[in-house]
Amino acid sequence: MTRTLPPHLLYGGDYNPEQWPESVWADDVRLMREAGVNILCVGIFSWAKLQPSEKRFDFGWLDRVLDLLAANDISVCLATATASPPPWLSKKHPAILPVTSDGIVLQVGSRQQYSPSSAIYRRYAAALVTRIANRYRKHPAVVAWHLNNEYACHLHECHSEASTVAFRQWLRAKYKTLAALNAAWGTAFWSQLYGHWEEIFTPRRAPYHTNPTQCLDFKRFTSDAFLELYKMEAAILRKATPHLPLTTNFMGFFKPLDYRAWAAELDFIAWDSYPDPVDEASARHTGAAGHDLMRSLKPERPFVLMEQATSAVNWRPTNSPKRPGLMRLGSLQTVARGGDGVMFFQWRASKAGAEKFHSGLIQHIPPEQSRVFAEVKALGAELKKLTPVVGSLVRNKVAIVVDWHAWWAVETESKPGRIDYAAWAQSLHGWFYEKNIGVDFVHPDADLTGFNLVVAPALYLLTIKSAANLDSFVARGGTLLATYFTGIVDENEHVVLGGYPALLRKTLGLWVEEWAPYPDGRTNEIKFTRSRQTHACSQWCDLLHLESASAIATYSKDFFAGRPAITKNNHGQGTAYYLGTKLDSAGLDQLLTEISRQADVSAPLAAPAGVEITQRESASGKFIFALNYHDSPVKIPLGKIRGKNLITGDSVSKYLKLAPLDVAVVAVES
Ligand code: GAL
Repeated sequence: MTRTLPPHLLYGGDYNPEQWPESVWADDVRLMREAGVNILCVGIFSWAKLQPSEKRFDFGWLDRVLDLLAANDISVCLATATASPPPWLSKKHPAILPVTSDGIVLQVGSRQQYSPSSAIYRRYAAALVTRIANRYRKHPAVVAWHLNNEYACHLHECHSEASTVAFRQWLRAKYKTLAALNAAWGTAFWSQLYGHWEEIFTPRRAPYHTNPTQCLDFKRFTSDAFLELYKMEAAILRKATPHLPLTTNFMGFFKPLDYRAWAAELDFIAWDSYPDPVDEASARHTGAAGHDLMRSLKPERPFVLMEQATSAVNWRPTNSPKRPGLMRLGSLQTVARGGDGVMFFQWRASKAGAEKFHSGLIQHIPPEQSRVFAEVKALGAELKKLTPVVGSLVRNKVAIVVDWHAWWAVETESKPGRIDYAAWAQSLHGWFYEKNIGVDFVHPDADLTGFNLVVAPALYLLTIKSAANLDSFVARGGTLLATYFTGIVDENEHVVLGGYPALLRKTLGLWVEEWAPYPDGRTNEIKFTRSRQTHACSQWCDLLHLESASAIATYSKDFFAGRPAITKNNHGQGTAYYLGTKLDSAGLDQLLTEISRQADVSAPLAAPAGVEITQRESASGKFIFALNYHDSPVKIPLGKIRGKNLITGDSVSKYLKLAPLDVAVVAVES
């Protein structure tokens, strides 16, 4: 069943009316209409208000809120309210509280204070969700469900008794026998052999390095434990409202949860994006990379930006505002990269509590005096003009492999050097982003048929199946770029012997004998064989041997000077590149320019640096988005492209002129 959303761009945010006297609500709704708000997430943190004590429920206020919104044509993505259990629950059942790896019990007074594996928490949460689902299943305002909130956001893992027992059950289901577990965990090492399941614990604080496979399995277990919570709520909601779409808000490159495994359970992807506006260039790239990762989880359906800030947040040491125009640019960037919804935390900035200095659509001042609200209204009006793009999709020719299991494995301790997996993937993404070459993020087992170029950064954990997939992608004519520390271990985090990366040795035409990780500040230099150009490199140097590959760059310094640093191998119909080090930006530019040419991937439109260009497509047409991040106007040659700028209504051809910080969305005439 396609559980659809309203057929316009969603615009709105979290609405927490329980923080305000009812007399404010009418004003809220009047201002929402003025701003073009058409959807709200309601009730996310209202468990204590809905169930003030174990036996007492109070839905009256929520009935009145939803009726008011329905009467004003404002849709609701209704929350299940389970993200912050009420204090009475942990007073009665302290065992639901989560525990850190040091054994510290996390207490009430904040939010998310529950162990994901607590059967008691699950029982109370299920009872609440059942009541909410049954009460509002036919409410005309409700168009979707918002399950819990940012699962695992503050609580990345839990070591409570309930979690320990659940971890053991998870291990029993996975390994069946202790012999299999002992083999997978390599417990012959350091006398870790387990003779009973009860001897096994979550990886709590220990004297020295904890068994890495145990740590990896615990990450897998934790992601699954939170997913079970989601599924528990989803089952209740599916039964009550099979026609309504379900979602929860993801957080982009968020390590604790394998969002790929989660994505199948969501009807549409929603996520929360808070790049730091203090550095505008990095904020726009962080936003773009997050959108690309989230969109790629369900490429056949537009995502929704569930939360962003109209201006400053409250949770950084220094919280910069978004200067005029930036909120609009970030919002339209969302649509440009495949989003069908632009939403915020939160409608009205709180008066009390830890988030009172977080911006809202309504600030602490009268809205008519607020430049933020003026921008909110202008954006609402603009988004209405973009209805034609709803449902259109982004199609890319470049994929970057990101796998949560590889991420978890490469960042557990006791490695040759420190690799920040997400940062490395994002920095490679950054080159394509600046060149306006669209990128999807894929799992290494994904169907790679539609892609010309696949980049695998530090894909440390690589299964036989994934290696075969990458190999056949190349053999069939694709271009692969793999980087250092790829293909080192299997799914149990055991080294695959035979010369790293053993499973890709033929594909890449080389083997790595050893590596020289560099501390911060130390550099080497590479020289491209053909152009003789030199560039600094840092962080990591693979010392490799060529088989069928040839060197396209060599190291200039250290005891391995003259040996290959970057290689190219013809394999089947395709080409496999290998990057054994981290290049400076000019070196990376030179390499990726060559590889992109080889793979025949380019931007939809040539534009000056600092102008973001994307494309969305649907059966009814093609839309080109152009976003000017400069404080000066730009002129973009359109070549043969002509069409209508949906924002201004003007016909465009030959050139697209954009004012400072302006955006155009061109519906292309075919
Ligand atoms: C999100 C959260 C919201 C709010 C927001 C503040 O992580 O879902 O409830 O706390 O951050 O930026």
